[in-house]
Amino acid sequence: MTGSPGSALIPPGEVETPCLVIDHRAVRHNLARTATACGGVGRLIPHVKTHRAPWLITDLMDQGVAAFKTATPAEVEMVLAAGAREVLWAYPSVNPRAVGRVLAAARRYPEARLSALVDSRPGIDLWRAALGTERPPRVGLRLDIDPGLGRSGVPMGREARALAGELVEAGLFAGWHLYDGHLHDPDDGKRAAAVGQLATDLMAFVGDADPDPAADIVVAGSYTFDLWPPHACLRVSPGGWIYSSLRHARDLSHHEWRQGAYVLATVITAHGVSATLDAGLKAVGSDLPLAERFGWPNGIMDMTEEHSVVGGAGETPGNRVLLTPGHACTTAYLYSEAWVLGLDGGWQKKRQMGIER
Ligand SMILES: Cc1ncc(COP(=O)(O)O)c(C=O)c1O
Repeated sequence: MTGSPGSALIPPGEVETPCLVIDHRAVRHNLARTATACGGVGRLIPHVKTHRAPWLITDLMDQGVAAFKTATPAEVEMVLAAGAREVLWAYPSVNPRAVGRVLAAARRYPEARLSALVDSRPGIDLWRAALGTERPPRVGLRLDIDPGLGRSGVPMGREARALAGELVEAGLFAGWHLYDGHLHDPDDGKRAAAVGQLATDLMAFVGDADPDPAADIVVAGSYTFDLWPPHACLRVSPGGWIYSSLRHARDLSHHEWRQGAYVLATVITAHGVSATLDAGLKAVGSDLPLAERFGWPNGIMDMTEEHSVVGGAGETPGNRVLLTPGHACTTAYLYSEAWVLGLDGGWQKKRQMGIER
């Protein structure tokens, strides 16, 4: 059918729809492209929010990825349980329970390195109290810098310098973190200029403020990771590349990433000029405008919890269609298992984290 990526990516037999379909070969291809683009797999600390799949943590480690970025305590737990040696909890929480949970996970895996973000004095105080006197030796705190995204972090300046100084004094300083998710201009040149300026500012700030000139710096997402200069202390943390998305195909085609995640849906009703699919808001991420939530040549007319109404004639109830999500991250987390097309061409159902935090 039109708009569908092809029947090779449809799991065999009577699988229940909607379901998540992962193409492992595409993920491996995307890893190779991403590692090359950032100057080597050692510079990569991929965000796991995109997939939340323990089997992919293991697979990425087998391919040389040594460190992972996470957003929630459940992701930290999952990554450590999968055997990762380094995890960054990229969330400046001031919630004692969340901090306690992450710290408990770190204590269960004392051989792994864990760094967490702080961007305020209450955050530092909370961590210091939670760590107490028996600190796990491999736990440290990173100062989160706000590069203009306006979400978390402190702007480069006096306050950032003072907070970093406090971390050093407390023996907890693990480096810097900066996420530049606001730099997503589809024009490569404009993006490169913005990243260049930001990198210059950051290096000047860190050079001046950094108590440890060799401190680790983690920056960037999928739109910018290849534009940061190859500084020896700098690692990059894109995540969306793992499954890529329609937006990447439009804006970041130079990476030649392949689509790695789809939703298999069934046409339940056909009306002549439109059809209804069994994949609605609970099956496809809904953080983008309606028209961009998944690829459909004749447009998406409506989406409700369990239904999508799409344009176009010629559909028949029972037709199965593979939908390419506009944003794979917010689609993948809707599923606690996925059909995975393996490297050997065989299919397996694999567990992954669903929406839990
Ligand atoms: C803090 C942080 N780092 C890295 C990423 C990965 O960015 P991307 O999804 O563009 O790869 C995200 C994504 O939301 C993020 O929030």
